[in-house]
Amino acid sequence: MTVMTKPEHIADRAMVNAPPLSPIRITKPDLLGVEDAKALDVARITDLFKAHINPGQLHFMKLLGFHKVKIERAEGMFYIDQAGRKILDFFGGFGSLAFGHNHPRIIEARKKFQDEKRQEIAIAFMSQYAAALAHNLAACSPGDLDMVFLGSSGSEAMEAAVKLAERAAGTKRPKIVYAENSFHGKTKGVLAITDGALYRGEFKLTDNTVRVPFGDIDATERLFRADPEIGVIVLETIQGGGGIVQAPAEYWQKLRALCDQYDVLWVADEVQCGYGRSGRFYAFEHYGVVPDITALAKSLGGGKAAVGAMIAKLDVYMKAYGAPKTAMIHAQATFGGMGEACITAIEALNVLYDEGLIDNAADTGAYLLERLEALRVKYPKIIKDVRGQGLMIGLEFHDFSQTLPMVLRPMVSMLDDKLKGSLSGFAGALLLRDYDVLVAFTEYNRNVIRLEPPLICQREHVDRFVEALDSLLSRGIVAIVKDFVKSQVR
Ligand SMILES: Cc1ncc(COP(=O)(O)O)c(C=O)c1O
Repeated sequence: MTVMTKPEHIADRAMVNAPPLSPIRITKPDLLGVEDAKALDVARITDLFKAHINPGQLHFMKLLGFHKVKIERAEGMFYIDQAGRKILDFFGGFGSLAFGHNHPRIIEARKKFQDEKRQEIAIAFMSQYAAALAHNLAACSPGDLDMVFLGSSGSEAMEAAVKLAERAAGTKRPKIVYAENSFHGKTKGVLAITDGALYRGEFKLTDNTVRVPFGDIDATERLFRADPEIGVIVLETIQGGGGIVQAPAEYWQKLRALCDQYDVLWVADEVQCGYGRSGRFYAFEHYGVVPDITALAKSLGGGKAAVGAMIAKLDVYMKAYGAPKTAMIHAQATFGGMGEACITAIEALNVLYDEGLIDNAADTGAYLLERLEALRVKYPKIIKDVRGQGLMIGLEFHDFSQTLPMVLRPMVSMLDDKLKGSLSGFAGALLLRDYDVLVAFTEYNRNVIRLEPPLICQREHVDRFVEALDSLLSRGIVAIVKDFVKSQVR
């Protein structure tokens, strides 16, 4: 038998050269405190943003005039800036603020949880908070969408959805269909099904994906029929980043039938359009169909916590991860199901129903759409289309780069790279500067303004928004563009 011993020189060094146990004195770096952070002024925030966060993004903030604003507080439908200006929030964090800012019931639940010193991390013991949130999500979901994975973002929820679908579909059917103009997140996995050339850039993405035009049932069927390796289709029910785009109403029933016929799993990304925004809890409920897997995030955290969730049919889940051997393949990550995040989401779901916010999204959304349609009729040369459902509305301007008077064209072409010559950039900047209203832009269609106000939005807020937009558009395109360009050189 050979006895393994340490080579002599190593043993010697270990004994003789062991560093003396001297205490190390760590000096505290130059850290800002919480109160320092709150007190930073615009100039210093700008310096820090540039130095440590994203210097390129600052460029866009400057174009839009956002760099002059420091938000001190936020309440309900409004941000309040350093000068006490109340900014009406029709952006709503791309649908993350169903309850507006700092809903009192949600804040109370969080404070109580903290005062009671409850546990946060949910990866050692089973968490009562994660269990209750999963129960609630299953209760809000139709059919047997019963199995819940908790994470902390929409991308993470969609990563979980795609992985689950791919495993359940099996190795013989590894191909995933996604739609033109889709947005499912920027993490590496879901980037392969996100249709933005800028985002995909030169990354090496998984190549088991196939693109189809959004809402085109014939093209979808042709793909399913032609390629037996297709096992999964992933679609936003209403495309957000694509510019608030809906498929024809009859598409969804037909899609469900096709998926059943060809045994393809349907993943519905409801990260932006779900959670009551469309006037139903899930947008797919408008069509009387149920996907195999879905995902929520954004407002799920009540505007106070980062929570994302994948919700899957029991049989699909069991197929992929149902055995002890496979159970940990995609079990929740470190921050999945954190205590305070879960109780925030639990309270938020209760508020959503107690305050009738889904009905309000349907009613107030219909009113907003009606008032915008009237504006479209009033300004047919400026507004091309208004569309959407509930409080997920897109307002598309005509592309005016060719119709602008010759004198303005050089000015606009100078701005073109930055704003792509779209009126939405100019209008958004002036709405903020002159009317204290915040709206959102759209990744793939720069002519579209996205309106996703909190679901607590009332008719009076709609009136204020529409009057601001009306007043702005009444100046005419030439004045709007000139004013914007002037503000850039000031
Ligand atoms: C439809 C959709 N899916 C996924 C995501 C990604 O969510 P997150 O930004 O929380 O990672 C988004 C974000 O805008 C989205 O709109």
